[in-house]
Amino acid sequence: MKKFAILTSGGDAPGMNACIRAAVRYGIYCGYQVYGVERGYEGLINDDVFEMHSRSVSDTIQRGGTIIKTARSPEFKKPEVVERAVNNLRERDIDSLIVIGGDGSFRGLKDMVKLYGFSAVGIPGTIDNDLAYTDYTLGFDTAVNTVLDAINKVRDTMTSHDRVMIIEVMGRECGDIALHAAVAGGAEYAIIPELPVDIDGIAAGIAESSKRGKTSNMILLAEGCADMKDELIDKIQAKTQKTAHYTKLGYIQRGGTPTMFDRLLAAKMAVRAVDLIGKGKNGRLIGIRNNKIIDVDVAEALAMKSKPDDELSRIAQILSL
Ligand code: ADP
Ligand code: F6P
Repeated sequence: MKKFAILTSGGDAPGMNACIRAAVRYGIYCGYQVYGVERGYEGLINDDVFEMHSRSVSDTIQRGGTIIKTARSPEFKKPEVVERAVNNLRERDIDSLIVIGGDGSFRGLKDMVKLYGFSAVGIPGTIDNDLAYTDYTLGFDTAVNTVLDAINKVRDTMTSHDRVMIIEVMGRECGDIALHAAVAGGAEYAIIPELPVDIDGIAAGIAESSKRGKTSNMILLAEGCADMKDELIDKIQAKTQKTAHYTKLGYIQRGGTPTMFDRLLAAKMAVRAVDLIGKGKNGRLIGIRNNKIIDVDVAEALAMKSKPDDELSRIAQILSL
């Protein structure tokens, strides 16, 4: 019987379970024996591999996190360790692997494919949305909705006390969570690593906005610009005589039940991944572009550079006036 394995790697993201569920069930439907690997690449190295059945994924579609666990495994950067992982799979006659993870995980995938000829395909699972080859990654939509929920709550205090609120969100070096949440949540500013930051301009803008009747302001600060926090607070205070209150949302952004968007994306990407395995296509990453599921060569995909969404930035500025 044909066999493939599936693992989740790097930071957990809502929608990973929906994706595992779809891959397991569609794989079985297509005649495969499907295996789970525990704790990402750690599990490949340690041969923590187990068979999964339709019932193994019951009641998981709505859960955040990953039922097969995840890990960050620095050891996997060593070629000899990748070789051991590939040999472990081959000894079990497992000849294909689906990796759900982010760019680090895909570098590991690339090594398996390019160095040892193993058949692997990737599904983007990270809240950061920091992969240029795809419009969306699994978990991003849910994370932004979680941020919006938090923003709505912070707004109550912000408005009642006429305050400036700074909210730090995740995203590593990518500002997508901050920018999307700023536009969707009505924040006045999004500070993101992809664009130049003018802290003096923001402080002056807040002072100026009170002349137009604005009594409170919200700033979304992307994790990649978090080192600007103290300067931002000091300059706002100096210019406006208002205290800027700071909240870091942290790990609540990684958890929770996936949105409809992430669940559907999970199902569609899992089906494409299993189909690619069936066609013997190797080293492909699944994505979504212009609402169509796509697949791209892993080396090509990892070489692409993210561009800031200029139109969204423009909209953010106009709507915050
Ligand atoms: P993400 O996949 O979410 O970006 P990480 O960057 O932590 O998360 O990467 C996840 C795992 O992928 C790492 O712990 C490691 O096992 C593997 N990995 C990361 N970078 C590389 C690399 N350059 N080469 C090989 N494997 C890597
Ligand atoms: O990649 C997802 C993410 O949550 C990033 O936004 C953040 O920088 C990082 O992971 C935090 O990683 P850790 O789980 O190791 O604290």
